[in-house]
Amino acid sequence: MTRDSAPFANTKVVILAAGKGTRMRSSLHKVLHPVGGQPMIEHLVDLLANIGAPDPIIVVGAAADQVRAALPGLDFAEQRDQLGTGHAVACCREALANHDGDILVLYGDVPLVDAEALTAMMHQRRAGHTLVALGFEATDPRGYGRFVLAADGSLERIVEHKDASNEERDIRLCNSGLMLFDGGWGMAALDRLSNDNASGEYYLTDLVALARADGLSVGVAETEEETVIGVNDRADLAEAEALFQIKRRAALLLAGVTMTAPETVYVSADTVIAADVTLEPHIVIGPGVTIEAGATVKAFSHLEGATVKARASIGPYARLRSGTVIGDGAKIGNFVETKKADIAAGAKVSHLSYIGDAMVGANANIGAGTITCNYDGFNKYQTTIGAGAFIGSNSALVAPVHIGDGAIVGAGSTITKDVAADALGVTRASQRDLPAGAKRFRDRQKKDKS
Ligand code: UD1
Ligand code: MG
Repeated sequence: MTRDSAPFANTKVVILAAGKGTRMRSSLHKVLHPVGGQPMIEHLVDLLANIGAPDPIIVVGAAADQVRAALPGLDFAEQRDQLGTGHAVACCREALANHDGDILVLYGDVPLVDAEALTAMMHQRRAGHTLVALGFEATDPRGYGRFVLAADGSLERIVEHKDASNEERDIRLCNSGLMLFDGGWGMAALDRLSNDNASGEYYLTDLVALARADGLSVGVAETEEETVIGVNDRADLAEAEALFQIKRRAALLLAGVTMTAPETVYVSADTVIAADVTLEPHIVIGPGVTIEAGATVKAFSHLEGATVKARASIGPYARLRSGTVIGDGAKIGNFVETKKADIAAGAKVSHLSYIGDAMVGANANIGAGTITCNYDGFNKYQTTIGAGAFIGSNSALVAPVHIGDGAIVGAGSTITKDVAADALGVTRASQRDLPAGAKRFRDRQKKDKS
């Protein structure tokens, strides 16, 4: 690849994820908390893959086992004691020993960064700056490092919130945490950081002042706040989620998805929705969902781990769980739950059903209140229903069981044995009518009560 088709090909990326994330008050490491159903740090790993950057080095420390387990196959550097972001990058010295290109530092708790922001940094770097910091105008700068500019408008130093004077705290141009610098200079400069500050930590941000002191030029790239929100507590996490959703909804609308109330639709990082899909209000789409062209998902439906094929209709009030495939033009109606269910093209499950560990053939009709009894308290079993079969309402299909093509199950049946193709299976008790029995009953009751 040429330099411009993969501008980050010779850049080593370091993702900081060693800090405890104390402010989250969680047993789960901060960078593993999900945004859009995906751990924060995975957003960064995916972004790097998308822009053709090599795999990153992840700096781990607190709850390192959790982070390692979540990211199999990646390279890690250990930071035993969390002595600050500068110290964390220095812990990659061994891992970076053979690297003589640039270093890009990302923060595991800044998950929404996009390719544009990274590209803007690369432009600045190519313009000749030894170090480039990514900044943004914060609506509420509390907690962020502030960019202190020199008289000529260039970046002089970054001051952390805790160390800032009242005057410096009024600065709105804040540090995103992301930094791109010449690896040779930067790794050596890390040795010169001091921890003489309010936190007693080695701040990566002090590289800016060091570069200036070395007579080197420092550049600033700017981005929007919503791209670089830092997640330090649960309130930040909720805000990151909201920002993520706003961005994804906008992208879906642009891509041809109809949403009548987009602000009420929630999607996941890996959601795939084709053009000409209609999403009604109040829909939650968890991880692993694909919806093909022309399908409609009606209000108040919840989908995860499901594929909805072209022109299918889902909901309102449907719940599709993992392992669900809804075929072309098939229909899932209200209060229907599916799990590990393959519903073939044109089949209908219109009302009040549970279809789990099941295969439903093309154009089959599953009546209201049908339940696949897939679990005996110990194991799960499979139900198969043939093409064109008709399951009468309020039937219990006790798995493992097979209903043949074109078979009919009489309403109210509890089916424990296979029903052959084109056969009629019915298990309910036969009906007995007592002529005038109702009248006799009422008369007796009235007499007893008076
Ligand atoms: C940091 C920046 C601040 C910036 C903000 C953006 C510094 C000194 N401050 O502050 O200027 O505005 O991010 O969100 O860099 N980490 C380690 N090892 C450590 C300490 C931290 O790996 O010893 C990791 C954390 O896991 C986290 C990231 O570095 O992913 C940032 O650390 P955090 O403590 O959240 O820094 P902030 O206070 O947010
Ligand atoms: Mg932070």
